[in-house]
Amino acid sequence: MSASNDAVIVDVHAREILDSRGNPTLTVRLATSHGAAGEAAVPSGASTGVNEAVELRDGDSKRYGGKGVLHAVANVNGPIRDAVKGMAVSDQRALDDRLIALDGTLNKSKLGANALLGVSLAAAHAGANARDQQLYQYLGGNDAVTLPVPMMNVINGGKHAEGALQFQEVMIVPLGAPTLREAVRYGAEVFHQLGKLLKKKGYATTVGDEGGYAPPLRHLDEALGLLSDAVTAAGYTLGKDIAFALDPAASEFHEDGRYLAVVGESPLDASGMIDLYERLLHTYPVVSIEDGLAEDDWRGWSELTARLGDKVQLVGDDLFVTNVSFLQRGIDEHVANAILVKVNQIGTLSETIDAVRLAQRNAYNAVISHRSGETGDTTIADIAVALNAGQIKTGSLSRSDRVEKYNRLMAIEEKLGAAAKYPGAGVFRACSSVVRAAGS
Ligand code: PGA
Ligand code: ZN
Repeated sequence: MSASNDAVIVDVHAREILDSRGNPTLTVRLATSHGAAGEAAVPSGASTGVNEAVELRDGDSKRYGGKGVLHAVANVNGPIRDAVKGMAVSDQRALDDRLIALDGTLNKSKLGANALLGVSLAAAHAGANARDQQLYQYLGGNDAVTLPVPMMNVINGGKHAEGALQFQEVMIVPLGAPTLREAVRYGAEVFHQLGKLLKKKGYATTVGDEGGYAPPLRHLDEALGLLSDAVTAAGYTLGKDIAFALDPAASEFHEDGRYLAVVGESPLDASGMIDLYERLLHTYPVVSIEDGLAEDDWRGWSELTARLGDKVQLVGDDLFVTNVSFLQRGIDEHVANAILVKVNQIGTLSETIDAVRLAQRNAYNAVISHRSGETGDTTIADIAVALNAGQIKTGSLSRSDRVEKYNRLMAIEEKLGAAAKYPGAGVFRACSSVVRAAGS
């Protein structure tokens, strides 16, 4: 081992900063004995799953309406710092195990998953810097060459844009692009065409939490119709160059076993929701549906997977919460065929990697994801490449908190040069009809 590999942690320091919604979160800087340091900021969700690791908030109503994170900051700057000082920065697994043991709870509620995650990710950055490597390289080695196909959230609804669609996310997927850089261009051009169309129809073009437009549409068909027109107006072929993905985030409109998919209409049961998705699949090139049913509706999810699992990617977000226990249940019960991966749902990098590896070993797709509350931190872009996940979900083509991740991915693609791979339609193997249409 070279001297730089032996770098040990000499200091850890957290600070309270703001996320993209103006709510407090943490940034953590971790310094090593060889001078190299790393920094990472922690994201925060709005439509959180009930089984997510706990984001520790102060609850002091005199500061930020109770949302301050000074306790989490103090946990990093006190007990966590004391526990990790002197550890090898390159032994991520040992570090994360130490963090998990120090917290001692199943859901990381004692020290806070936000505190743990900041330290875990900052250590990865410091380790990469200590070896003078890019983060994706440090984590993934020479195998890390696959750029992710993005799901770009250009129409925001649900909890991310009050007063609009019940469905939280209507996304475009540039699966026909030859490279990530071109995928970003396809996406941005469609986004701008959509803005023009909305304006023409008299809608405001203000954006929601993830940088997508938030027009007051009631029906998903209106959204998908407008989006189809935007794709065509931008000069792309629907289904070949660009497909659609949905994240209804159905837990948010599920009550007493029924789903209020459209405000003002009768709620549907799980079978009714699946009928709705089946119709959408026949009408539009939808390649992925995330949280199509609620997190506690496992019976509904079984039916959903049995009926549509060989036609479309079915992603568990609130359902699996990046947790190997829930994912294993999904695998055992043939529920879903993909997992959404959010670092702060589980709280350490090693556990995040475990979830992706478990998915990959069982032919489940893995989609690395941002949260609706973000910062300029781009760690997830490197994680997506490091793990060859093949897909990323990181918002629309506006707002720095979203586009910084695309910018980082374009930089990684350039660094990889000829080795870089953009898998395109190939990642949606479950969605045979669309893959056929895209000619791969
Ligand atoms: P969240 O939304 O970050 O508000 O949970 C993202 C998602 O549901 O995928
Ligand atoms: Zn989701």
